[in-house]
Amino acid sequence: MKTHEASTPRVLVADDQPDVLEALRLLLKGEGYRIEAVTSPPAVLAAIKSSEFDLLLIDLNYTRDTTSGQEGLDLLSRIQAIDGTLPVVVMTAWGSVEVAVEAMRRGARDFIQKPWENARLLSVLRTQIELSRALRKGQRLEAENKLLRDGHAPQRMIATAASMQPVLRMIESVGASDANVLVTGANGTGKEVVAQTLHAVSPRAAKTMVTVNVGALSEGTFESELFGHVKGAFTDAKTDRVGRFELADGGTLFLDEIANVPLAQQAKLLRVVETGEFERVGSSKTRRVDVRILSATNADLREEVAAGRFRQDLLFRLNTVEIRLPPLRDRREDIPLLAHHFLDAYARRYRKFLTKFSDDATRALLRYEWPGNVRELDHAVERAVLMAKGAVVEAADLNLQPGAEAERGLEEMSLDEVECFLIRKTLARCDGNVGQAAEALGLSRSALYRRLQRYGL
Ligand SMILES: Nc1ncnc2c1ncn2[C@@H]1O[C@H](COP(=O)(O)OP(=O)(O)OP(=O)(O)O)[C@@H](O)[C@H]1O
Ligand SMILES: [Mg+2]
Repeated sequence: MKTHEASTPRVLVADDQPDVLEALRLLLKGEGYRIEAVTSPPAVLAAIKSSEFDLLLIDLNYTRDTTSGQEGLDLLSRIQAIDGTLPVVVMTAWGSVEVAVEAMRRGARDFIQKPWENARLLSVLRTQIELSRALRKGQRLEAENKLLRDGHAPQRMIATAASMQPVLRMIESVGASDANVLVTGANGTGKEVVAQTLHAVSPRAAKTMVTVNVGALSEGTFESELFGHVKGAFTDAKTDRVGRFELADGGTLFLDEIANVPLAQQAKLLRVVETGEFERVGSSKTRRVDVRILSATNADLREEVAAGRFRQDLLFRLNTVEIRLPPLRDRREDIPLLAHHFLDAYARRYRKFLTKFSDDATRALLRYEWPGNVRELDHAVERAVLMAKGAVVEAADLNLQPGAEAERGLEEMSLDEVECFLIRKTLARCDGNVGQAAEALGLSRSALYRRLQRYGL
């Protein structure tokens, strides 16, 4: 694609609100940009097919009262399908950091929160346009290539805490065997990472590990997904389909969220786990596979058995060996290591020069309870990398809520604390949508903004 080296940069701006477009037009024109403004996703796609732009600045919501950002995320994917090199900066509603993070994951170069600060907006646009011009000119640094390559490094399991030693010992002793292993632990403790590690150290490592979230399969698709089907087995079966057990033949099958499988399907699983035998749906031919079965759950399967919700015989087949992962708060020694691991990964992915946490930030990481465990830490660091303005991640970038208020009880709080607590809860409930939150709280938008500022939210 041709670039506009000598000419003024061309920016396509998309937002459904005319006043936003007008404000952007004035601001950017004053800075010497050429602007084209459109108000809908189809218009964005039409514009990039017919003209060339140096940068796209797109809103994530186009229908009145929506705040999910889904329209914008879909648009982002379509833009990328047309021209993956076009730099896209997204605009998100105030406070909806999660959507911003999702947009970055999907390839947005940066994001601006509304209401925006002019200086920041201009600096983001300038940086992205310069960067993309440099890249298009082929001035890609070798270092950058290396960074991208390293970004695809295989998952590494970090575990140095004393409470993780039993886990490591188990992986060492059963990893190489064909023993079925059940991995248990609360949400986000790293069950899938353990499964990947077990597969990686086994003689099956050269074959694939197939993962199925069996807990999420509907009754109708369970068998066809796991065992496959033959053409004509049911209305939608237009062709033969290979199931996950066959795909995993010779390798490892990882059955995730195993406690959520209904009893009727547990019976079907039991047979194949015991014998390796099954039939594709609609076929009477028995097939046999050689798979090692790893499974995971955050439930207590013994309790499930006692309550009559899980078959004991299936449990005994699955948990030849059981590996229990402690919650992150019981392995605090690992927090700094994990945090740095995520910091490196995200700094690379988002091209930010961040190498460490401030002392305050480290203290905040160590103090926090991490109810969402390693996954929560992962997301907190990703968000912090995106929010960080300087070369060091500050405590404020991490935005860790002490979480103590919830248990403290309203009667023990000052009036200000109650107000702040209520506003935070309401905002969370409204996914960060200030308009909705204001309505729910019976405040005007501006009154809510004033309070947000006062409490530094
Ligand atoms: N020990 C570890 N070292 C490095 N990264 C880890 C470790 N444990 C977890 N992670 C990372 O934390 C995130 C959550 O891990 P994982 O998906 O394995 O958790 P889980 O227990 O399966 O969670 P869920 O219960 O939600 O399914 C992933 O991004 C994973 O890469
Ligand atoms: Mg998991």
